[in-house]
Amino acid sequence: MPTDFNKPIIEEFRANEGRVGGWFEGSPLILLTTTGARTGRPNVSPLGYVPDGDRILVVASAAGAPNHPAWYHNLLADPWVTVELGTETFEANAVPLRGEERDRLFAKVVEVAPGYAEYQAKTSRIIPVVALYRTAVDEKRARAIGDELRELHDWFRQELAELLAEVRAHRGGAEDAAGKPAPALGQQLRERCLTFCEGLARHHGGEDMVVFPHLEDRFPQLKEALDRLRREHVTVERLRDELRDAVAALGTGDAAESERLGDEIERLAAELSAHFDYEEDQLVPALNSLTDAPWPSPR
Ligand SMILES: [Fe+2]
Ligand SMILES: [Fe+2]
Repeated sequence: MPTDFNKPIIEEFRANEGRVGGWFEGSPLILLTTTGARTGRPNVSPLGYVPDGDRILVVASAAGAPNHPAWYHNLLADPWVTVELGTETFEANAVPLRGEERDRLFAKVVEVAPGYAEYQAKTSRIIPVVALYRTAVDEKRARAIGDELRELHDWFRQELAELLAEVRAHRGGAEDAAGKPAPALGQQLRERCLTFCEGLARHHGGEDMVVFPHLEDRFPQLKEALDRLRREHVTVERLRDELRDAVAALGTGDAAESERLGDEIERLAAELSAHFDYEEDQLVPALNSLTDAPWPSPR
């Protein structure tokens, strides 16, 4: 729809606590602000909506025109949108629904607003249904979800750095300042290595089984990043198993053994550090916007 058609509706909406007369009299409206895919500028569209639990459904009908409306193209490129509803304004994540879910909810929308069935009959394209998920309602809790990931990663980073420093201290049977030979690798250090490996296996297992599928569902645009992170988990798992085997096979913990162990830890540390950086880069903004993480807090 041309901007000059929307402008008075937007002004009326904002002046009247979200109520609009004339053409839209009596139909519930939101103002959806997307970021122009080509222009990068905010684009405001008045849209009919249907509430569905804690999310809002909007339909990219363009009144049955042959092409998807601009706002739909915009949110495919950038799903972070702003919603004005009544007197409220909030940020949301826009997720186009797929397959059976799209069909089921399109039918639900048509029950409330039969006009959409007429629009669908006018066009050969499948009219998209988009779910808008409110983000950061409870900003404090929401932020904590992303922050928890960073903190947990930091614990792994630090633990690995300390392990490496300790193993390296034993290397070559070096003498300490008092001239006494360094002790062999202790049982305690071995146990600490194994505890680290177990903790990491649990962390990645939880990501693979629970966190990543949830994020993929809510943020389809993260699919590529999540696939890469899953592949990295496989690599990390291999290095972690090698480290665990090296620890389990430790004999006397002599210089050669501790050097090999140090090398194993270094390899794992390098791989893991790159993995954590990429994961935080890609996932923390999405995690920080979540208000309904289906996994318990790590502590
Ligand atoms: Fe990970
Ligand atoms: Fe992680």
